Amino acid sequence: MKLINLKWQQLILSLGCLLLIIACKSFYPTNKPDAVPLRVATDPTFVPFEIQKASGDLEGFDIDLMNALAQPAAGIAKVAGFAVQFENLPFDGMISTLQAKRVDAAISGITITAERLKTIAFSRPYFKAGLAIAVREDNQNIQDFNSLRGKKIAVQIGSTGADFAKTIPNAKISTFNSGPEFFQDLLNGNVDAVISDAFATLYAIKNGNLKGIRVVANLLTQEYYGIATPKDSPHLDAINKGIGILLSNGTYKQIYQKWFNADPPQLPNS
Ligand code: ARG
Repeated sequence: MKLINLKWQQLILSLGCLLLIIACKSFYPTNKPDAVPLRVATDPTFVPFEIQKASGDLEGFDIDLMNALAQPAAGIAKVAGFAVQFENLPFDGMISTLQAKRVDAAISGITITAERLKTIAFSRPYFKAGLAIAVREDNQNIQDFNSLRGKKIAVQIGSTGADFAKTIPNAKISTFNSGPEFFQDLLNGNVDAVISDAFATLYAIKNGNLKGIRVVANLLTQEYYGIATPKDSPHLDAINKGIGILLSNGTYKQIYQKWFNADPPQLPNS
């Protein structure tokens, strides 16, 4: 009798446990994380958006933002439901790599432009940016677009700065693969000005990485950065929803303050 009692007890106990597990599972649905992480391309030569530390680790505003999308947030298993795996890629190859679907997305301070929208897709804007003219500190004669006529100008290959430079009458344009290189050329006196993203240049100057260079106060353009994906990407929706969550739950503001010591400006929804 005792033996039978014990078996019944065990059976009831295990059935109870089973029911409890089933109940828990249905109360807390887990956002099944993708088995395969999202491959995200970045060109880590762009302070403070993406930089590679001596250890090889990536850091920066874009890196924090992308990681926040992949991190659990209050009440949501993962903000955008996927894990992220970064892949370093030269900026110039970014668009064609996305087009060929060799990566799932790219975050690299990439400006949303009508031209690029013809071949790839972008998330909602996540950063308000713009192009600026950088000159040597002692140069007083370059003040605006008109004073750039006929000047020697350095730009990054494939960037919006490179497109802009093409519109300057008689400018002699030299192209470079990455930011640090064209600033060196400016300091060496080989070019008169650099046209590049204002925030990145101002950040480098402020943090002492760029000595002897100043940024002309008025911005040349207003631009917005977006996370780029191939056209009709299955991930774009989750990325957009995720950015929305980070904007409304304070995470975006935190990341912005961490890198820029200021409150973020208002961003358009699309
Ligand atoms: N915003 C500019 C563009 O889209 C330059 C971005 C450069 N980014 C980089 N990681 N090097 O063309």
